[in-house]
Amino acid sequence: MQFAIRPMIHGYDTFAAFGKAHAVGPRDLIFTQRILYETFFSQTQAQTLFYDDFCGGEPTAATVDAMLIEVRSRYFDRLIAIGGGSILDCAKVLALDSNDSVASLFASDVQPGRKVGLILSPTTCGTGSEVTCVSVFDFPEIGSKVGKGFNAGFADHAVLIDEFLSKIPYQVFATSSADALVHALEIYLAPGANAYTDVFCLAAVRSLLQGYIRMTQLGSSVIQEDAKAYLAASNMAGIALSNVLAGGVHAIAMHFGSEHHVPHGEATRLFLPPVFKTYYGKEPSGKIADIAQLIEEILGPCGPGCTPFDALDELLAKVVPTRRLSEYGMAAEDVDRYADKVIETQQRLLVNNYTPLSKADIVQIYNQLM
Ligand SMILES: [Fe+2]
Repeated sequence: MQFAIRPMIHGYDTFAAFGKAHAVGPRDLIFTQRILYETFFSQTQAQTLFYDDFCGGEPTAATVDAMLIEVRSRYFDRLIAIGGGSILDCAKVLALDSNDSVASLFASDVQPGRKVGLILSPTTCGTGSEVTCVSVFDFPEIGSKVGKGFNAGFADHAVLIDEFLSKIPYQVFATSSADALVHALEIYLAPGANAYTDVFCLAAVRSLLQGYIRMTQLGSSVIQEDAKAYLAASNMAGIALSNVLAGGVHAIAMHFGSEHHVPHGEATRLFLPPVFKTYYGKEPSGKIADIAQLIEEILGPCGPGCTPFDALDELLAKVVPTRRLSEYGMAAEDVDRYADKVIETQQRLLVNNYTPLSKADIVQIYNQLM
């Protein structure tokens, strides 16, 4: 067993407070989205590089190659990435001391060091990417997203800034926080989980579900009031994720998200209920019983014929509505092929399942959502 919290974690109310505390200046390169720059830190003295000049959605290997060419022509001491998981994932690679392409960097034995300082600040409350060393990019030629952990991908500082949640679009809040919930739930059940990851996972699940209940009762205006709690919960789930990988929900979502260009948090939220109902059906008395008990404690006791995971599904339907898989463009005849593809490309995650998921299980999971 081993457990680490690698970056120093800081919390600030505003970007201004962060900028002052970390002496952000002209030798820094802020990598972010234009809208975030214009909204929160257009007065900064730091250099800037905008993600949206390269990429409109989630990053592909080719778009990150274009970013690498630009970054290698700049002179700076620290890369400060401010954004959602995609931006933070790119920054980990942009800060590496290498002249390789993304495809070469993703070769299994390649582990370059870091060229510059690295500060990661999330503007969503979900991926936990600010405390992991993993970068996930889409590789269209193999039809899936692929993740790789770089030893040098751990930031020097992970910075949580409440102000960044003040203008978050509801859909981004909903899908990113749901992804944090998936991280915490999957890792709690993973065979590699330990007493330390358990603490972070349970705290994150409790906080996120309590936040969701408050929001369904009081409306989405409470998101900003709860900003610190959401940022901390997604960060705690990220700390667990930096020690133990996610499992089957992410495995299926990684492939589906790549095929149908569905944002990561929306894809993981989609597959959470059917995967967990499958686990609960197969092995209800293991660690998943702790999760079931926690859900009932927060959401209230289930009615007759209803499991805690049905209740979770109902809550998620209110907070993070999704569509049927057919409405994303998946056809009934895709089911068999998709299940094969998940098994072929996502073993890195499937080995972390609570119970093994057979091809028949995965087919059944798709069919529940068609
Ligand atoms: Fe995730």
